[in-house]
Amino acid sequence: MSYQVAVLAGDGIGPEVMAEARKVLKAVEERFSLDIEYSEYDVGGAAIDHHGCPLPESTLKGCEEADAILFGSVGGPKWEHLPPNDQPERGALLPLRGHFELFCNMRPAKLHVGLEHMSPLRSDISAQGFDVLCVRELTGGIYFGKPKGRQGEGEQEEAFDTMRYSRREVRRIAKIAFEAARGRRKKVTSVDKANVLACSVLWREVVEEVAKEFPDVALEHIYIDNATMQLLRRPFDFDVMLCSNLFGDIISDEIAMLTGSMGLLSSVSLNSDGFGLYEPAGGSAPDIAGQGIANPIAQILSAALLLRHSLKEEAAAKAIEDAVAKALSDGYLTGELLPADQRDKAKSTREMGDYIAQAVREAN
Ligand code: NAD
Ligand code: IPM
Ligand code: MN
Repeated sequence: MSYQVAVLAGDGIGPEVMAEARKVLKAVEERFSLDIEYSEYDVGGAAIDHHGCPLPESTLKGCEEADAILFGSVGGPKWEHLPPNDQPERGALLPLRGHFELFCNMRPAKLHVGLEHMSPLRSDISAQGFDVLCVRELTGGIYFGKPKGRQGEGEQEEAFDTMRYSRREVRRIAKIAFEAARGRRKKVTSVDKANVLACSVLWREVVEEVAKEFPDVALEHIYIDNATMQLLRRPFDFDVMLCSNLFGDIISDEIAMLTGSMGLLSSVSLNSDGFGLYEPAGGSAPDIAGQGIANPIAQILSAALLLRHSLKEEAAAKAIEDAVAKALSDGYLTGELLPADQRDKAKSTREMGDYIAQAVREAN
């Protein structure tokens, strides 16, 4: 069986980490005799530079024809002067999520056993480990709510965004969180701001309704501000964190860093037909782009998620995850995972990709 994957590497470290993910995919294809065809398309700043717009028709069409999308990252200082809707994030990534109605975003963050020291958590806390799945609503809330814009002039000028959620939108993402919890430690923590926001009051109501269909799963509600701090105090108490679009954005960077680096957190974004876009949770990292030092693991693990969710190649997905775990256990680390005085031992983006690809080939 032959699969089609649309590859959108994007900007900044996107192409650097994508090259390593492709390397690892090649190793896994050989090992599992998979037939995957890749088509590369410009997106984001790269597309602005080459085509004059962040999401060209040809890119969208290529994505529509593919079985799945492997996405790098978009954005950077070069395009920040453009009108907001013409910039890479709002002109390409959000429209892609909207176009395919990729409402379900899942970001799994686990503290690697033996590498607790990579975490910025206090050692008695990191010693207990943690394993959190952030389930983030991705096509609604304040990101997409209308009206959105600016009006007026001078000191009277104002800007506005609208946070808006329907019962249907909350219900479908809540169901996914509960289903995911069933396959894990059977606990859902729903993150909201129900002491202030009308959207969060509705969110809680619907989540309570959905919970009744899952009597075997424990449910707790937590305010977003408290959640960010409890994650630092007792991350091991969380299993599935169910979040609206904006709160999930915030929580996902926090859980990424608790594992040691933004460069470790992968993600899958699915629609109700199971079509998916796979991307690192982090961005184009302009501060380190072009230096060959970015951690490619989030991109590599996103490729593993693609194999699992879109191509249903579980063994191949697992082989990649095992190879990544091996690299980390072997102490094969990119610079941001190391203390400043040990950076001379840091591996480059390319060395990391090579090592993981080799581990895929050698595994039995
Ligand atoms: P960022 O995630 O790009 O970077 C935040 C910090 O994490 C930086 O210090 C960066 O060096 C580090 N980091 C991120 N990925 C890393 C990796 N793989 N290895 C090592 N370190 C890594 O967030 P930002 O700086 O706020 O945003 C930069 C640009 O990326 C902006 O234009 C933003 O809009 C965009 N962005 C894009 C996406 C996406 O395309 N999915 C996601 C987030 C941010
Ligand atoms: C993410 C990113 C995006 C988001 C930006 C780049 C639009 O931060 O995927 O987490 O806010 O969703
Ligand atoms: Mn984010």
